[in-house]
Amino acid sequence: MATPNVFNTFHFLVLHFPIALIVVSFLCDLVASFVKKSKWNGTLKKAGYITLVATAITGIVTCLAGLIAAESLGLMATIGAHATKAIIFTAYVTVLAVVRIVLSKTTKKDFGDNLLYLVFSLVGAILAFTLFKIYRYPHWGVLQFTVPLVIVGFLADLSAIIWKAKSWAKSLQDIGYTFLILGTVAIIATVITGYMRAAEMPALAHAAVKPVKYDPAALHLHAVWGVITMIAFIILSVVRSYFHFEFEAKDLLKGKAVYIVGAVVCIVIISVASHLGGTIALFPELFGK
Ligand code: HEM
Ligand code: HEM
Repeated sequence: MATPNVFNTFHFLVLHFPIALIVVSFLCDLVASFVKKSKWNGTLKKAGYITLVATAITGIVTCLAGLIAAESLGLMATIGAHATKAIIFTAYVTVLAVVRIVLSKTTKKDFGDNLLYLVFSLVGAILAFTLFKIYRYPHWGVLQFTVPLVIVGFLADLSAIIWKAKSWAKSLQDIGYTFLILGTVAIIATVITGYMRAAEMPALAHAAVKPVKYDPAALHLHAVWGVITMIAFIILSVVRSYFHFEFEAKDLLKGKAVYIVGAVVCIVIISVASHLGGTIALFPELFGK
């Protein structure tokens, strides 16, 4: 039996990105289509565009990581149906992203809020929702959104700081702020649904059909880190909100080093919490412990 290492577990880290980001992309463009005359329309479409491109890139990375995981865990013979569905999904979102990039470059207009495009984007979100069974239990459904939102938001902030002279820096900064707040809301919901799932675990472990193999000590440690994650992100969001509403973009940039350190610490904490989540039932099941 293989032991968990960065190669055979990377798939489980990165798979949340394509699943969550296509849903976020659709929702941003959908809201943009309702506020076509507002100044928020451009920012929302940028968020829709960035998250669509990120869906395609992380989808391809997830497929490669899945192949490595399947090979190193000796699951190649049994993973065919899952791999086929995942490759179809990744091909679909990649074509969507390429068409959007090419058309927005040639026409100098992003059609993210166009009704026909929204139908295609919704199909991508429904594919992610159904092919990977986001609805399997509430904790699993909401946790998908936590890490992708805070990391894409952080990258938008970093880009706004690096290219602060560009006209779109303010939009990226708004995306960074909004994704941090949405990510924090998702983390709070993840903690609530986490406790609901924890309450079900003893019964699931003794179920007559397909009992779940889980480690109660790993669950306890995961819950502690989950709560620490929630507190850390609430503090980060409150501090960021104060600066967001009190100062102009250029003033916020003055405190950038402190903010970046705080955000990196929070991202490390959520990564540890998520990794520990995998040690409750997923890793023992896959690695035979
Ligand atoms: C967009 C691409 C993909 C996504 C979003 C995705 C998503 C998932 C999900 C949600 C799981 C279940 C994890 C859990 O229960 O926590 C999983 C498991 C797995 N995936 Fe993927 N996957 C993708 C591509 C692939 C590909 C191309 C392969 C291999 C050829 C693959 C191999 C595996 C393996 C070996 C497992 C573990 C076996 C199992 O739990 O039954 N994945 N993947
Ligand atoms: C920021 C907070 C949290 C994050 C990001 C998070 C993330 C995760 C992840 C990634 C998994 C592995 C899912 C899989 O098997 O594929 C997991 C499993 C789990 N988490 Fe959390 N979690 C959080 C908070 C909590 C809290 C506070 C609890 C409460 C006790 C909790 C209870 C559980 C349980 C019971 C499982 C195992 C579910 C199963 O495999 O059936 N989580 N979590």
